[in-house]
Amino acid sequence: MAIDWFPGHMVAARKNAAETMRKTDVVIEVLDARVPLASRSPMVEELRRENQRPALKLLNKADLADPARTAAWIAWYNAQPNTKAIAVTAQKAGDVQRIPRAAQELAPTRTTALKPLRLMILGIPNVGKSTLMNALLKRKVAKVGDEPAITKMQARHALSPTSYIVDTPGMMWPGVDQHVAHLLAATHSIGRNAYDDHDVALFLAELLLTHYRARLDERYGALPPDADGHALLAHIARVRSIVRDVAPLAALTFLKDFRNGLFGRITLEVPPAAERA
Ligand code: G4P
Repeated sequence: MAIDWFPGHMVAARKNAAETMRKTDVVIEVLDARVPLASRSPMVEELRRENQRPALKLLNKADLADPARTAAWIAWYNAQPNTKAIAVTAQKAGDVQRIPRAAQELAPTRTTALKPLRLMILGIPNVGKSTLMNALLKRKVAKVGDEPAITKMQARHALSPTSYIVDTPGMMWPGVDQHVAHLLAATHSIGRNAYDDHDVALFLAELLLTHYRARLDERYGALPPDADGHALLAHIARVRSIVRDVAPLAALTFLKDFRNGLFGRITLEVPPAAERA
């Protein structure tokens, strides 16, 4: 089943983001450290380039990601022009405190009340943007515009007397590439009714069998050496004693185990050798 997920309210969100970006000094893009490229929105990159704004890339959920791969991704992003990247875990106060400083380094002249540091924060749904905003502002702020019925599409918050941050709704883009869509469905950034759990579980199973095979053996007991995705899901059904709705329940069990970090710290992408951001 092809995945295509671009809810209507995101069209308006894009228009608002384009307007805000013109009045922004640094664009903070929240990425999922488990899928640091797939979670990057080409729409944000396009707007950022049009407006020539520097980017602070936050590789969030670093606690769930493979540390060696995160280091490689940070180096890759830091090699891109006008870009700085840091790995963070939104629940760790020490990580969050690094964000304003890193943003300031990208716009060193914006330091007064007359010339405040103007930030905007963007990210795809479920990437941890709200958790980061709450931690940055040290209070619970309402999620902006994630439901079609919510008309408030952006919210501006003072970070300090000389800086503020504009929060935007979680955004997807139209015509998402199918490989990317499957990665984002696996990490729970795409609405559940837009994909089939079994398809996504098979996709994830093949990736983990190739790159993190030992972790699967550890969690579910040794698999046959030639196991493919179907065999893995059948094995999970057996070891979890699933007897009814076998295929969908095994798929869901597997996806939940991955999302809850039960296979240890995993990253599903490696940096492309020569691609430019
Ligand atoms: P959003 O605004 O970008 O949509 O994301 P939000 O902050 O709501 O976070 C989505 C989920 O991700 C939340 O879990 C949140 O606790 C979790 N999360 C955010 N940042 C981190 C992080 O750095 N590490 C880990 N491990 N989790 C993080 P949830 O409410 O349980 O949602 P779900 O995962 O069940 O969808």
